[in-house]
Amino acid sequence: MRIDILTLLPRLLDGPFADSILERAQERGLCEIHIHNIRDYSTAKQKQTDDYQFGGGAGMVMTIQPIDDLITQLRSEREYDEIIYLTPDGERLEQRTCNTLSLKKNMILLCGHYKGVDQRVRDHFITREISIGDYVLSGGELAAAVLVDSIVRLIPGVMNDETSALTDSFQDNLLAPPVYTRPAEYKGWKVPDVLLSGHFANIEEWRMNEAIKKTKERRPDILGDE
Ligand code: ADE
Repeated sequence: MRIDILTLLPRLLDGPFADSILERAQERGLCEIHIHNIRDYSTAKQKQTDDYQFGGGAGMVMTIQPIDDLITQLRSEREYDEIIYLTPDGERLEQRTCNTLSLKKNMILLCGHYKGVDQRVRDHFITREISIGDYVLSGGELAAAVLVDSIVRLIPGVMNDETSALTDSFQDNLLAPPVYTRPAEYKGWKVPDVLLSGHFANIEEWRMNEAIKKTKERRPDILGDE
């Protein structure tokens, strides 16, 4: 998988991809992440990338020219499955979208700023608009980092324990059950007996019941959604 991220603030993305699972995925050649500074493609005198909005109103709007040139160049080099715009008014990100996107080959992610991008960018280049939740960030970069993390960890071979993505919260419309590790007793706080019993069927039943209980309490909206 190859992901090209288009941003005005490339430094914001230095950290998230340099560590842990995302670093390992790149080292193993399972994904490539390329960060492009939109400003480098501006043909304006001062390399401007934004302008006042037509019709008046507060807030600057990202201009189409540098984004067009950058996307056009990338598309001349390879085909892209999706060109995604991160925006609070996009479809809300859910695990099933992450699963779908983890099967793609090449993707472009466009990070918005200010009041957003000129609508013509959205109309003519963007294939999908995604929000990571009902709150507003100061730019799309952190949202892009969240999206990339949620996708890349699903690529086979990225995680050490191949099965662990399958037991994540949300994968079966249930929140994950509680987990414990050694010691079996700490300051008098005990691990549930069933987990120490070695009885696999009972353990599975306990986990399922706990997952259902937790989901009913915290997220009844996702229970039996499918
Ligand atoms: N940009 C600003 N807020 C955002 C959000 N919630 N999701 C995606 N992109 C954003």
